[in-house]
Amino acid sequence: MKGIVLAGGSGTRMQPLTLATSKQLLPVYDKPMIYYPLATLMLAGVRDILVISTPASLPDIQRLFGDGSRLGLSLSYRAQAEPRGIADAYILGASHVEGERSALILGDNFFHGSGFRSLLQRGWEILDGCTLFSYPVTDPERYAVCELDEHGNLVAIEEKPARPLSKNAVTGLYFYDSDVTEIARFLQPSERGELEITDINQTYLKEGRAKVIELGRGFTWLDTGTHQSLLEASEYVRMLENRQGVRVACIEEIALRINLIDADACYRLGAEMSNSEYGKYVMSIAGALA
Ligand code: G1P
Repeated sequence: MKGIVLAGGSGTRMQPLTLATSKQLLPVYDKPMIYYPLATLMLAGVRDILVISTPASLPDIQRLFGDGSRLGLSLSYRAQAEPRGIADAYILGASHVEGERSALILGDNFFHGSGFRSLLQRGWEILDGCTLFSYPVTDPERYAVCELDEHGNLVAIEEKPARPLSKNAVTGLYFYDSDVTEIARFLQPSERGELEITDINQTYLKEGRAKVIELGRGFTWLDTGTHQSLLEASEYVRMLENRQGVRVACIEEIALRINLIDADACYRLGAEMSNSEYGKYVMSIAGALA
């Protein structure tokens, strides 16, 4: 099982914040944005992950995570010279996923909710061609939108429709079987000049091999790609962390809890950041779970 984090794009919507840094390294409260999608892939059981970003941002992301071994992961990196669309991840990442199932997550997508790990597990269990995750929003026209029949079966997907068929946005987390690279190879750019992930999903839908898991009330999905949504995500994380004394998307804690690293290794990772509350939290978790 392979994973891809697509952290590309020039972040023009977020300028001047993104003039000198990558959007995916901007803070969502107490950690860089990219921690959140990485945490999601870890919870999905993925260890071997390709990070795709711009040539300018890639060295910074590499400095952040290295080869991933400190977290029990195997991370590799690939530059995307031009933003060519989300589906380009499966052209650039073809040799990474070759022959295996894979999960793709967008670097600005934030997921949080209890029972998420088992939901992700179910995503793999039902995977035939692709498994998508939908979430009801008030502004579906900003996203891919899916329509389900009364039994919850997927009947249609449309990219940024002027007149959305439903309120169900297709989130930026996708599970695919090994056919995805072959499907991506034959894609043509859309009217907006991008290789659309929605075109891949429509191919699976036509073959009757696309499934959807609905993320319902009580679950949070945000795309943190605008100033407003970035601030909302920070506020959400701050509220939850301060109220419960937990950390959301603490990748060191997740690595420990899913047995990728032991308590000693986790403690050492925290100790390197012991001046920060985050580092202290990692050390305390390692102590509690030792
Ligand atoms: C992209 C996808 C869209 C998806 C969204 C989720 O939108 O094209 O299908 O619903 O991510 O965040 P974009 O970031 O290109 O606006």
